[in-house]
Order: sequence, then structure tokens, then C-alpha cells
Amino acid sequence: MTGEEKLVRAAKAARLKAHAPYSDFLVGCAVEGEDGAIAVGANMENACYRLGVCAEQSALTAALQIFGLERVKRLVVIGGPRDGSGTDGPVTPCGGCRQAISEAAVLSGHDIEIVCFDADGGSRTSFSISQLLPAAFEL
Ligand code: THU
Repeated sequence: MTGEEKLVRAAKAARLKAHAPYSDFLVGCAVEGEDGAIAVGANMENACYRLGVCAEQSALTAALQIFGLERVKRLVVIGGPRDGSGTDGPVTPCGGCRQAISEAAVLSGHDIEIVCFDADGGSRTSFSISQLLPAAFEL
């Protein structure tokens, strides 16, 4: 199994643990560290809608604890509706998550790859964070 296949498997498993009763849109994310360690996360919604957390932010929080943001190498994002309908395109990180991934890129000193899929693991599309968020805000 390739490194990417391992990440896809981890992201799919994380997606199935999403807490998304309001949107019924389940997203899983796997973050790979420089040494091959994997941190995962899923979206976690809230009855106060604006307090929901995306899968990418959730996984990056886990990565912070497991190997550190400065060692983030690549992310895999998988998502789609719970019932499998409309799986016609990859889920790409929202603007806020792009800014969070950019934070890791600044700390690591290199670009980060983000590989996006639909819920079935199809529609593979690869980006770099510098492509997804050019001219990111930095303090
Ligand atoms: N969501 C993510 O977790 N990641 C993305 O990249 C896009 C959107 C979540 C937020 C919300 O729980 C649901 O998907 C619908 O927007």
C-alpha cells in the first residue's frame, strides 16, 4: 500500500466518524507527518451552526499534538453527502482551513500538498497550499 493509499484509508475511516447531523455532509481528513505518522479528523458540527469545526482543522489539531505543525507534509481530504448522492467532485478545503494549512506551511518552511477526493475516494485532484491560497495572510 502506498503512502497515499494509507492516507486515503485513514481519511475514509475518519469521515465515517464525523458528527454532521445538520448538513449530512461528512468530511474526513488525514494529515501525514514527515516521518509517515498520520493524524486524522472529521467535521464536528454544533447546534449553534457557526461553532462547527471542519475536518481539516480537526485533523490539524491532532497533528499538532502527534508530530507538530512544522512536520506536516501532506493532507488527504475526502467528503460528500452521507447518503452518497452527488459524489461528483472532490471536496476542497474552505477558506479558513486554507489559512490553517498555510500556517503549517510557514512553520515547516515548505509547500504542502493537499489531495482531495469525493466520498468514494474518486475524483482525485491534487493541489499545493500556495495554489489554493496565494498571498496568504501572515503576521
Ligand atoms: N466541511 C469540512 O469539514 N471541510 C471542508 O473542506 C468543507 C466543508 C464541513 C463543514 C460542515 O460541517 C460541512 O462540511 C458542510 O459544509
